[in-house]
Amino acid sequence: MDIGIERIGFYTPNSYIDIVELAKARGQEPDKFTIGIGQDKQAVPAIYEDAVTMAAESADQILDDSNKKDIGLVIVGTESSVDESKASALFLMDLLDLPENVRAFEIKEACYGATAGLQMAYNFVSTNPGKKALVVASDIARYGINTPGEVTQGAGSVAMLISSTPQILKLENKSAYMSRNVGDFWRPTFSKTAFARGKFSNQIYIEFFETLWKRYQKEFDVTADDFKAMLYHIPYTKMGTKAMRTLEGKISDEKYAQLQAEYKYSIQYGREVGNLYTGSLYLGLLSYLINSAVTPGDELLLFSYGSGAVGELYSAKVCENFKQYIHVKNVQSLLNNRKKISISEYESIFSQSVRDGESVDPSVVTGEFYLSEIKENERLYKTKQ
Ligand code: HMG
Repeated sequence: MDIGIERIGFYTPNSYIDIVELAKARGQEPDKFTIGIGQDKQAVPAIYEDAVTMAAESADQILDDSNKKDIGLVIVGTESSVDESKASALFLMDLLDLPENVRAFEIKEACYGATAGLQMAYNFVSTNPGKKALVVASDIARYGINTPGEVTQGAGSVAMLISSTPQILKLENKSAYMSRNVGDFWRPTFSKTAFARGKFSNQIYIEFFETLWKRYQKEFDVTADDFKAMLYHIPYTKMGTKAMRTLEGKISDEKYAQLQAEYKYSIQYGREVGNLYTGSLYLGLLSYLINSAVTPGDELLLFSYGSGAVGELYSAKVCENFKQYIHVKNVQSLLNNRKKISISEYESIFSQSVRDGESVDPSVVTGEFYLSEIKENERLYKTKQ
């Protein structure tokens, strides 16, 4: 039985900052941010947006009355949870009017959460072939004003419908994974911003990729030549390049050049929005499928990395009519119709939040779903009429 991604949706907030303007405001060389880090723009979420509203936005694009009734599993992968107890997936069910006969919950393991969800969805569909699983990655990456990580912030979500009728990507059930307790990046429950040992996190990311690639080749008897492209978790777009450099000299120069060229297609959207945390790998996948010349049957290798840390390397095959099932115009209009805000506007938004007893004026909302108020410390969401 084939199992894989039947539909994929993407959302990023309507406002962004220009990375050159950020560099100038922070007294940095613009080239450090655009070349050394590899970013152009950074998404800035509005105060009424969070992991729940963004998850609803991306999932709504791929659901209709017919596929909703077949869903048996709803997973939100996020490290930007809005509640220590209740899962984002439950708010999502309400906003999207999903049926109650499902298992709905949240997975947290930094940027690995959605991949854990995807693998769980694979297992779910393999034992329930007529059912589908909704896996949504949704996050706000925040390090704080004037921190080294600030240039790598971002926000957005990617939703995937997993089923036994994959139309976009067939998962191959070939995977190498590893976990280790590492202090490279963390966010204590009291803090809205993450703490990172930046250079150390780069080092662990690369080490995990190298270890898993060695293991993957041995276990599945493959070489780099078996893959059209290698897609990476993209905290900032230079990161995948750094991991890929470990292949230089170990594979043919032609193959290395080809993989580097393919990688460029996968980072086009990441350059425009920044880190989506657990959605970053999947935005990279979407970027690659839309912008490259990939053809049906091509094999892709995907590297998922979540600080803390868990890594997984797995392969997937591009489906026959994948282009028909991707909403290219939606993705492009979402990215092209955003509003640039100044660095001081971004700094002001960064310091604001909706507090208990406050409500949001719906006329300022740009998307479909929003946090409408916090009442008795409970977050209440609405769909824009
Ligand atoms: P930094 O110390 O400000 O930057 O922090 P740097 O000094 O390392 O410079 C960055 C690059 O710019 C270097 O290139 C410089 O040479 C270059 P590299 O050596 O790395 O190839 N550079 C220039 N290039 C062109 N023109 C110039 C110029 N000047 C310098 N004029 C750092 C950078 C990424 C560490 C920081 O932003 C950070 O801490 N970010 C957050 C942590 C992070 O993203 N880690 C990535 C791996 S961990 C991960 O992916 C998981 C994560 O997504 C979280 C999760 O799982 O939930 C983060």
